[in-house]
This record gives sequence, structure tokens and C-alpha cells, in this order.
Amino acid sequence: MTAIKKIGVLTSGGDAPGMNAAIRAVVKAASHFNIEVLGVQKGYYGLIHDIMTPLSNQAVYNIIHRGGTILKSARCLEFKTPEGRQTAMENLKKNEVDALVVIGGDGTFTGARLIGKEFGFPVVGLPGTIDNDLYGTDYTIGYDTAVNTVVSAVDKIRDTAHSHDRIFIVEVMGRDAGFIALRSGMASGAEKILIPETKTYVNELIESLKTGLNEEDNSAIVIVAEGSEYGGAMEVKKIVNDHFPDYDTRVSILGHMQRGGAPSAFDRVLASGLGFQAVKGLTEGQHGVMVGSINRKIVFTPFDKAIKYHKSFNVELKNIAEILSA
Ligand code: F6P
Repeated sequence: MTAIKKIGVLTSGGDAPGMNAAIRAVVKAASHFNIEVLGVQKGYYGLIHDIMTPLSNQAVYNIIHRGGTILKSARCLEFKTPEGRQTAMENLKKNEVDALVVIGGDGTFTGARLIGKEFGFPVVGLPGTIDNDLYGTDYTIGYDTAVNTVVSAVDKIRDTAHSHDRIFIVEVMGRDAGFIALRSGMASGAEKILIPETKTYVNELIESLKTGLNEEDNSAIVIVAEGSEYGGAMEVKKIVNDHFPDYDTRVSILGHMQRGGAPSAFDRVLASGLGFQAVKGLTEGQHGVMVGSINRKIVFTPFDKAIKYHKSFNVELKNIAEILSA
């Protein structure tokens, strides 16, 4: 095993609160292990276009609490081509980078897996996505903050929904995953939660709303993940309008506000711990893996698995959430 002297760190895909805390942890852990760090700008784009600058401990001062990513992020189509990856590899060699830490979701790990397979280049991944949809970790960096953002928005929407006796359909992020919808729906007492993972029959939706709407509180909240089987909130509104023509049904799409803001304490701690373990793992010969935390234990999961397998979804929690809100 050759000693690692210099690593690159990048953030890729949709940004997530806590990415900066992860970058800080990677830089400080590297310094602890006497390793230099280059910060790669804009994810894989920065590898291909050679945009890498040294990151000192000083450079990551005062960022643990900041949302977004100081390294910027991108979804890079060029990196999907063999030519793009070849150029990236040449730039890594030119800059004498021995290994990479990539922070992102399954798209990020798909790219990382390829450079590991094609060039034998050591890469360790950190799970950074608000979606929490990665196998190999109980929680991804950014998820807790996003859920808290949604809950504080829905609490406010509930105030006005109650005042006006309205039904609100609130759309949250999650193209393929309902983790944000489920947790925020439970925490905000939503009358119904629609997610991509489970089927919800229209009559169930209608029944839940009928139960929720009564003399004491003639308002209701439906949380819908953007990738639900009916589509997003606009589609669900049409269904609700057809069955509740006497109600004023409104839509609120929370959108990218869910990806911003200061990371929660939970996300900062998760990012710090995993960031440290990523660098330590590299010094111990780990590569081609994502570092996660399962039942509070550090677990390295091969990229193949992290990408291919689906994190199991707690259907019982969804049922409980709806029983409790009725
Ligand atoms: O992967 C994170 C995520 O925020 C998803 O929940 C959402 O569907 C997607 O990114 C939006 O991506 P973009 O900002 O590129 O539209």
C-alpha cells in the first residue's frame, strides 16, 4: 500500500446542508494524518477542467455552520464519457493527487465507481443528499436539516390553512424517494402522505381527508413527494378538487428552499464524523466505498451496493403517522 500524500475533495450532484461541515472535516482530518488537500470546484467538472486549489485548515475556518458548498456543485455530463474520465485522470496525475473524497448521492458514486474500476484510482464517498435514499447509511448528510426546514414551513402553512378552512397540498423533494415526505409528514401531523415507494389508492386519500376535516378543524395538509405515483402537488390537487369541490384547495411547492440553510446540529456531527472516517479509511487502504453510519457504527459499503440496493422504507411508520393524524 503506497502512502497517500495528497487527496482531492469535491461535492457533486444536488447540494445538501452539511456539505461544508464535511469538507472541513476532510481537510482537518487530512492535516491530522499529514496529507495535503486540493479542493476541486464544481464536482467532476473541476476534475476535467483542472480547477483545483489547495485547501488549508484556514480555508475551512468558519464554514461548519454554512449551507451550500464552498466548492460548488454540478451534475457533469462530460464525466459520463470515457474521454471525460480520461482527462480527469490526467489532471489528477498532473496535480499529484493520490486519492479522492467525493461528497454526493448515487450519481456521484456512479462516477466514482467508474474511475475506481477503469483506473484503479482510490476513492471514498460521503453520503451527501437531502433525499436520504442511499443504502449503507441510516442517514445522509443534509436530510435532517431538510426535514426540519419542511416541518417549519408546514407549521406555518397549517396556521393559515386553519384560519381559512383550506386543504393544502404541500410538495416536497424526492423524485424517487419518500423519506423527506414521510418524516416531515409525521412530524407535522399531515393528514395524508404520498410517496413513490407505496401505492395510495384515491379512495384512501379521500377517506383520510374526510376524517381529518371536521367541525373543530376544517383544514387538512397532504404532503406529497414530487415523485409520487400521481405526480406532484398540482396533479394531486386535481384529484382533491374533484372530490371536495366545496373546499378551497391550495398548493404549496417548497422546492429548493429544502436544500439551503444552516445545517442542523445532527447534520454537522454526522458530516464531521463521516468526513474524518473517510480520510482515515483512505489511509488504511479503503477505496471504492461509501462511508456511512448504521446503528451508530461506521460502515464502508462498496459503491456497487450503495448504488444498486435500495434503503428499506418504513411502511409501518407511514401507517402510524396517518393513524395518529386522523
Ligand atoms: O437529489 C436531491 C434533489 O434535491 C432531489 O430531491 C430533487 O428531485 C433534485 O435534487 C432536484 O435537482 P435539481 O436542483 O437539479 O433540479
